[in-house]
Amino acid sequence: MKPLRVAIFASGTGSNAEALIRQAQELPGKIQVSFVLSDQPQAGVLGKAAALDVPTHVIPRRGDRVTQEAEILQLLRERSIDWIFLAGYMRLLSAEFLRAFATMHEGRTQVVNIHPSLLPAYPGKDSIRRAYEDGVSVSGVTLHFVDQGMDTGPIISQHSLPRRGDESLQEWSQLFHRLEHQIYCQFLRELAAGSHFRGYLKEVLS
Ligand code: GRF
Repeated sequence: MKPLRVAIFASGTGSNAEALIRQAQELPGKIQVSFVLSDQPQAGVLGKAAALDVPTHVIPRRGDRVTQEAEILQLLRERSIDWIFLAGYMRLLSAEFLRAFATMHEGRTQVVNIHPSLLPAYPGKDSIRRAYEDGVSVSGVTLHFVDQGMDTGPIISQHSLPRRGDESLQEWSQLFHRLEHQIYCQFLRELAAGSHFRGYLKEVLS
């Protein structure tokens, strides 16, 4: 079987992207990270990907979303991408984009995201800080399929992260990121093993 071809979309530092690339490189013949895409020319993720010999593309939002997404779709088609992993990509993808990508895969939504909260709690930005400042006793990480909403797609798995109470925000944040990397890499290994995820989801976009 041909390796599954993955594109990672990221706008920022890229610690999740780096973890995914390193994991994929341990799965030769099964998973290939074809490229990293960013909408931010200065994003740290671009250097991390390049250092690991993964091609990068920057497609900023110059005009409207339709134009940007058409450029991205063209790239996805050219590179025969099977799965998109969002890793701190700070743009919502439109329903039209998701539908167009799904039609490349028999109607399946093969786009996933990792988010540092137990969704539906704390969607959007600064989830870790907001939960910390609210003094929650437990938060966590959610892996989910992507729909057109803000962190609203069907949940694949959730993993909780209790709070001791005396940790700093920085210490707590580090635990989230470590957990995110573990969960995202685990999902990649499951894909490589040909697990059930490949059949999912016509109904997400209906
Ligand atoms: C992560 O917390 C991820 O869950 C969220 O954005 C952050 C990206 O961090 N969606 P990094 O750029 O992967 O380090």
